[in-house]
Amino acid sequence: MNQSIEVRTEGLRKQFGDVHAVKDVNLHIAKGEFYTFLGPSGCGKTTLLRILAGFTSADSGSIYFDDQFVNDIPPWKRNVGMVFQNYALWPHMNVFENIAFGLRERKIVKSEIQDRVERSLQMVNLEGLDKRRPSQLSGGQQQRVALARTLVTEPGLLLLDEPLSNLDAKLRIQMREELLRLQRELGITTIYVTHDQEEALITSTRIAVMSEGKIIQEGTPKEIYELPYTKSVADFVGTSNLFSAEIIDINEDMLILSSDEIQDLQAVWQNSLSQPPSIGSPIEFNIRPELIRFSKGGITTNRISGKVESTAYLGSQIQYMIAINENKIVRVNTLNSRKGKFCGLGEAVELTFSPHDITLLHS
Ligand SMILES: Nc1ncnc2c1ncn2[C@@H]1O[C@H](COP(=O)(O)OP(=O)(O)OP(=O)(O)O)[C@@H](O)[C@H]1O
Ligand SMILES: [Mg+2]
Repeated sequence: MNQSIEVRTEGLRKQFGDVHAVKDVNLHIAKGEFYTFLGPSGCGKTTLLRILAGFTSADSGSIYFDDQFVNDIPPWKRNVGMVFQNYALWPHMNVFENIAFGLRERKIVKSEIQDRVERSLQMVNLEGLDKRRPSQLSGGQQQRVALARTLVTEPGLLLLDEPLSNLDAKLRIQMREELLRLQRELGITTIYVTHDQEEALITSTRIAVMSEGKIIQEGTPKEIYELPYTKSVADFVGTSNLFSAEIIDINEDMLILSSDEIQDLQAVWQNSLSQPPSIGSPIEFNIRPELIRFSKGGITTNRISGKVESTAYLGSQIQYMIAINENKIVRVNTLNSRKGKFCGLGEAVELTFSPHDITLLHS
């Protein structure tokens, strides 16, 4: 197997006309990492992958693989395997030939090609389809051929552009687990692109959240989910309950805040900020739905009153939308313990949360 690659970039930029597709991207991805670009459509994820693979050249900035400057090295000499968002299978070749192509180019002996192609077909659950042409496959099957074709060459860097997006829910989870197992087993450095935040949280060693060509936050799944820096990260990763308030006093680690929506609001600032904010300044914050609970009264801080607007039964969880005024809904997730009483539609409820569970956001 090839050695896995460490990836470093400095100040990568790419512009298409007026569009800044990639803007000052500095990456440092360790060997064997499963690193994910997460962001909305058009934020530059594919462009960034293509630059790393060598299919698109950057306007400026440097790329290093294991300290080797690779900007001028063509894609086929970079030891990179890429699964393209649109699969890019060769239409005139059948499945076997598509997968074997990269191995033939590497002058691997016929018997080994046969073995490796068969193993990779098993890996992606496509045994028996080796004689089909891409046009005779469903979108999900084509996607799996694309994945097998890339994995079979055992590259040192694996670039995956939404490789599971066309699979049904069950197969998607199965392939995700298979991909992870394989990635860990082979230790290939992997850069993964997805819109799907749950997939990103489950698979990644680290996540880069992107917006308009820039990485706006980088961190472990836990850091990204529990300590988003900004409103856009909080909103893009997971479900958020965003509020604004004014700081009226600071008592050691506790902020005393004023808000139209939450009574006797207090928040611990050290979890999210390195320095206390100043008294009198406005602040925005987020509380995740699973950290809000229904209270039965007698609580003195962080009280929200509202009415149940709708509920969703998810089996393991119950999700509530609580209207706290005409324009604002608070989302609350509770575990379905089977014993608890569900709140009915229109019921008046009191909510509360701990001052430790607030994430203060940077503007
Ligand atoms: N070859 C091109 N010519 C002109 N504009 C381009 C080109 N490729 C990408 N763009 C633009 O650059 C921006 C980033 O595109 P990119 O394909 O990298 O986004 P993405 O994050 O992969 O989106 P998606 O999630 O929809 O795949 C978009 O505004 C896109 O329209
Ligand atoms: Mg894309």
